[in-house]
Amino acid sequence: MISVILTAAGSGTRAGLPENKIFCELHGLPVLTHALSAFAPYAEEIVVACKTEDLGRVLPLLAPFPQARAVAGGATRMESVRCALAEVKGEIVLVHDAARPFVPARVIEDCIASVKQHGSGVAALPATDTTAFVSEGKIDSIPPRTSLFSLQTPQGFLTEALRTAYARAAQDGRCDFTDDSGVYAAYCGQPHIVLGDRGNRKLTYPEDFAPPARVGFGVDTHAFAHQEEIDRGIARLNLNYIRLCGVTIPSDRALIAHSDGDVAVHALMDALLTAIGGRDIGYHFPEDDPAYRGADSMQLLETVMKMVHEGGFSVQNASISILAERPRLAPYIEKMRAALSAALGGAPVGIAAGTNEKLGYVGEGRGITAYAAVLLGTL
Ligand code: CTP
Ligand code: MG
Repeated sequence: MISVILTAAGSGTRAGLPENKIFCELHGLPVLTHALSAFAPYAEEIVVACKTEDLGRVLPLLAPFPQARAVAGGATRMESVRCALAEVKGEIVLVHDAARPFVPARVIEDCIASVKQHGSGVAALPATDTTAFVSEGKIDSIPPRTSLFSLQTPQGFLTEALRTAYARAAQDGRCDFTDDSGVYAAYCGQPHIVLGDRGNRKLTYPEDFAPPARVGFGVDTHAFAHQEEIDRGIARLNLNYIRLCGVTIPSDRALIAHSDGDVAVHALMDALLTAIGGRDIGYHFPEDDPAYRGADSMQLLETVMKMVHEGGFSVQNASISILAERPRLAPYIEKMRAALSAALGGAPVGIAAGTNEKLGYVGEGRGITAYAAVLLGTL
């Protein structure tokens, strides 16, 4: 029988959240639920060590897992494991930090197989940084990196062996072990390692809880005005320029638009608005609203950027593609890029411009289409 101990009795101080980090929702589920789901297929018993004051919130999260129950943890992680270990019934025990919600099935399976074969299995990753012994601000020595590993959880053992190790540590009055492999190594023997996973990180600092990046995409098309329409007296179409990315570009014909017709900025605004899960520009700046007649699209972009910031996001980068048979845009690209980058809070902006090889409405010179993609990160 396999038992799992989930250590969840910390306070998550370094995460700076208003609650214990194990309750924080990631991808729609609390951190603790992710950990429970990862182990449920393998464990006949899951003992969750938690703080008594958290019990009211922990118990409902355990309800979907019939093999899970809670025990009161202790003041240190070592104490919490000791409390849970006293209750464990399986002959194999895997100890895992609830704060590592993304442990892959492969790592759990390898740990179990290693315990069955060698009596222990500890998830470990080869060190990527050079690591030094330091005292009084000076490096004493640097061990060869090839023999250094970062230890993760799960850490699996034969339950009786780990119990003995913890009992002997208690007899020696030792409470300085930061994980179970340390206790086992001091009193039972050399624990075996299995390959851990970079995704199996322990969520510790605020940035570890940041929502994932958001992607956004937008498209817009505006038609060039025909001479007869201009002749019909729609005065503002009788312009000798167009606006693209906030830059004025000479053109023998204007684009038909209620606003200034900045098709690239319109595509960009839709990319931003859809990335934050909002409505599109037609909703926010209706065409039939006289307030937006001849509007400067760069000003509308400012409003959209406010919404992006209010949503807690910043722009990581933007990529714009403009299809236009005319006018020639190459001489203006750099100016357009700088204007948009400034409007997006300094984010890198790339702009590509091309013709449509004389095909379709763009190729026939009847209009311009712009595409925009954005990547948002958290502020
Ligand atoms: N843990 C525990 N009992 C304690 C302290 C920690 O069960 N007395 C658990 C945490 O809940 C966490 C794991 O051990 O799942 C790893 O500890 P850590 O990342 O340090 O979590 P916290 O102690 O909660 O965070 P902090 O140190 O920032 O307060
Ligand atoms: Mg801690």
